[in-house]
Amino acid sequence: MKIAVIGTGMVGRTFASRLIGLGHDVVIGTRGVTDTLSRTDQSRPGMPPYSEWQREHPDVGLASFADAGAHGEVIINATAGVATLNALEAVGADNLAGKVLVDIALPLDGAPGQTRSLVVANTDSLGEQIQRAYPDARVVKTLNTVFVEVMVDPARVPGRHNVFVSGDDAEAKSTVATLLAQFGWQPDSIVDLGGIRTARGVEMYASLYFTLAGVLNTFDFNIAIVRNESDTRVS
Ligand SMILES: NC(=O)c1ccc[n+]([C@@H]2O[C@H](COP(=O)([O-])OP(=O)(O)OC[C@H]3O[C@@H](n4cnc5c(N)ncnc54)[C@H](OP(=O)(O)O)[C@@H]3O)[C@@H](O)[C@H]2O)c1
Repeated sequence: MKIAVIGTGMVGRTFASRLIGLGHDVVIGTRGVTDTLSRTDQSRPGMPPYSEWQREHPDVGLASFADAGAHGEVIINATAGVATLNALEAVGADNLAGKVLVDIALPLDGAPGQTRSLVVANTDSLGEQIQRAYPDARVVKTLNTVFVEVMVDPARVPGRHNVFVSGDDAEAKSTVATLLAQFGWQPDSIVDLGGIRTARGVEMYASLYFTLAGVLNTFDFNIAIVRNESDTRVS
């Protein structure tokens, strides 16, 4: 499948590399191809400059946000959450219309490693903002509740654990479930939370996620839902 990964950071690179390994045709989108290839700094400790990563991943294309968007039958939003709406504007409404738009971003202020807060919460979410801005896109919020390496390789965390999907388009959620299965998520581990409004809950989990990462001293953990199967009451 032709997939556009919008974002050149750790998440975009991890998705692109995994998707190429699965046989997909992947193009990463960036604000400026020349700028991105000419950067020599490590944007994050341990993360090589993009050009270095590109040399090790010659099968992954790099294009402007718009050209990547035109390439993708499925589009994955892996941009900084506070910049997502800007980035998607550059991708362009025409390139998003009718397509499955997988949103894994978190609308956090500040930089990784700092104490960060959601800039949208409670009565709205980034997932909803994207769906409102691009009503013809088929937005599915997913995977943002786990560390990027776990997103694309859930077996890093042993045992049975869960991933969530939120979105208004059932067919789009089914396409995303297929992609999740390719990453290794078991079908019964995927919890369909309902419409895109439910993105609020998975985005607001970020605070507990970061607290747990500090307490457990690892990012390799996840939520496992355990329920009493004989009790069907919802209170
Ligand atoms: N790391 C995790 O385990 C994890 C877990 C859950 C969710 N997430 C979410 O995944 C997303 C990606 O994270 P990341 O660390 O890989 O990348 P990031 O550093 O948050 O974002 C990098 C991307 O955002 C683009 N960008 C930055 N400012 C922009 C602006 N003003 N206008 C347009 N685009 C802009 C950059 O464009 P250029 O390419 O042009 O530089 C780059 O492609 C984030 O929303 C993060 O919260 C991460």
